[in-house]
Amino acid sequence: MSKGRPKHQSRGATADPADMPLAVVVLAAGQGKRMRSTLPKVLQPLAGRPLLAHVLETARALSPAAIHVVHGYGGEAVRRKLADAPVNWVHQAEQLGTGHAVLQAAPQLHPDHRVLILYGDVPLITADTLRQLLEGCGPDDLALLTVELEDPEGYGRIIRDASDQVLRIVEEKDASDKQRAIHECNTGVMAVPAKRLVPWLQQLRNANAQGEYYLTDVIAAAVRDGVAVNALIAAGEEEVQGVNDKVQLSMVEATYRLREAVALMEAGVTVIDPLRLDVRGKVEAGRDVTLDVNVVLEGRVKLGDNVKIGPNCVLRDVEIGAGTEIAANCVLENSVVGAGCRIGPFARIRPDSVLADEVHVGNFVEVKKTRLGAGSKANHLTYLGDAVVGSGVNVGAGTVTCNYDGADKSVTTIGDGAFIGSGTMLVAPVTIGANATIGAGSTITREAPAQKLTLARSSQVTVEGWERPVKKKD
Ligand code: UD1
Ligand code: CA
Repeated sequence: MSKGRPKHQSRGATADPADMPLAVVVLAAGQGKRMRSTLPKVLQPLAGRPLLAHVLETARALSPAAIHVVHGYGGEAVRRKLADAPVNWVHQAEQLGTGHAVLQAAPQLHPDHRVLILYGDVPLITADTLRQLLEGCGPDDLALLTVELEDPEGYGRIIRDASDQVLRIVEEKDASDKQRAIHECNTGVMAVPAKRLVPWLQQLRNANAQGEYYLTDVIAAAVRDGVAVNALIAAGEEEVQGVNDKVQLSMVEATYRLREAVALMEAGVTVIDPLRLDVRGKVEAGRDVTLDVNVVLEGRVKLGDNVKIGPNCVLRDVEIGAGTEIAANCVLENSVVGAGCRIGPFARIRPDSVLADEVHVGNFVEVKKTRLGAGSKANHLTYLGDAVVGSGVNVGAGTVTCNYDGADKSVTTIGDGAFIGSGTMLVAPVTIGANATIGAGSTITREAPAQKLTLARSSQVTVEGWERPVKKKD
């Protein structure tokens, strides 16, 4: 995907930046009108999580001393949604420009820190690129991330002098035709020593086409004050893609999808079609795992060696043991499945289920908050809810644990080696003893003793002399 390593240009002299602690400022105050949504832009989901959450995760990977998030539009909703994030919220009441936005965080910035500026709507930037960028930022060095764009429309353009040194940034709306022909653009991401940044921000003027306080004007201020501007050209467009509307949101999602699929393939997973795999969480996979088309992996998913996931499966927060095969069209959630199991097709494993090794759960079987012991089978058309099932149990087709009386849930306990005939209703709370056999079609309401055959159905009658009615002809 990437077009090689990004490259630093016009490196200035100076300092060991590793000595300078880092503060991150994330700009997230914009409304995102073009989203045409009531949800603030930075809360729009990418791979199931808010855009801003992706940026914060990347920021955290840099171990900064502090993360300040400048919020404004929909501020309450943003804070509520990301309440657990260890960040300092900074409010920007009026969106007067990117420079004004960073200035709101100025009172919180320690003068000896470096300040990395990120954007809540640029979610794919990687920690690797940022680390590289930060190498170009020290007490007298500013680092700027730029990108070569085939279509630079809408972006600020990078103005360089004859010796290729960056001089300033010109916003498209303020640019001359000649400047607009420049393809090197401002990503917005920069790292600046706080001691320098704050006075520059305080000096900003809004005498420009948009009447805004432009963060980009700090570049010219740096050049004026003899601070080196070290531009790093991003390896590709994808990483610095911004999100302004739903089309761009889908493009970022597509980049993310491919990135995650490539990471799994590089780790040895066979992905039948990387364009038809969605990873929306953290996946840990053993050797020789195969993921078929239209698989969605969410939350924390752990797949053992030789696991095979068939087409159209959704796995959310699950752990699957080695050699287990999940056939097409299964949904598994918040559960643990042992080794050598066969699940599906068309099976649903609901939260808090634990399946031991060699378990078979077949088509149209729903399992909820249930333990199934080693080697037990429920192969067809069955509901097992709130059940504790031993090992080597055979649950016949159409068996239902009647676990809910309209008020409370009750437990069904089935001992090792039991055989439940097809069409059995197990009215919980109820216990089936070890190696018990339940005759097909039984409705079991009391304990069925171990080792014995228990039946609970009306006996069959044949009515002698009965005749089938026939329609009278007149
Ligand atoms: C900005 C840059 C431009 C760059 C482009 C990259 C400036 C002046 N221009 O332009 O050089 O090429 O990003 O995408 O910086 N925001 C606030 N408060 C504000 C204004 C903006 O928090 O008062 C946030 C927005 O929510 C957004 C980000 O800052 O996340 C960028 O603002 P936006 O107005 O979209 O800047 P651009 O015009 O795209
Ligand atoms: Ca923008």
